Amino acid sequence: MKQNIMALALVTACLALPAVAVPAVAGPRDDIVAGFAAAAKAADPAFTGFDAARGKALYESQNTASAESPSCASCHSASPLKAGKTRAGKAIDPMAVSVTPDRFTDLEKVEKWFGRNCNTVLGRECTAIEKGDFITYLSGL
Ligand code: HEC
Repeated sequence: MKQNIMALALVTACLALPAVAVPAVAGPRDDIVAGFAAAAKAADPAFTGFDAARGKALYESQNTASAESPSCASCHSASPLKAGKTRAGKAIDPMAVSVTPDRFTDLEKVEKWFGRNCNTVLGRECTAIEKGDFITYLSGL
């Protein structure tokens, strides 16, 4: 009898499981992008969405804040599908999510490096729109 109850409980639990698992849980990258979208909307009510073409333009843009690192591509390589290199010559994994799947999945890491690199390359913080565009571009390659 006790065993029957156990078995019933197990079957019930198994039947209940798909109902719990089915709703698609957004991944950490989606959550990070959603956070930037909310910030972008708050800063500019006319914001309608991120744009991969703008992200590509940011990645490739040549700037004047640093002679050694005029662009994101200076360290991250001209092609985001390829490995980059720090100024000290250390390899940086490719930025394209298709090649490096754990890119942009840790908010702390994402914010730390946007903070550091935008200031180096652009001489200022990146906006939420720029961050979302950048991730959108690199997620779609
Ligand atoms: C001076 C070299 C250098 C430049 C220039 C540079 N980066 Fe980076 N970036 C790095 C390094 C080093 C890392 C950390 C190593 C890694 O993530 O593989 C990194 C990581 C990042 C990350 C974190 C990625 C993740 O997986 O979460 C973001 C975001 C980023 N960079 C954005 C930018 C943007 C935007 C620009 C241009 C405005 C830029 N970087 C220019 C060196 C650079």
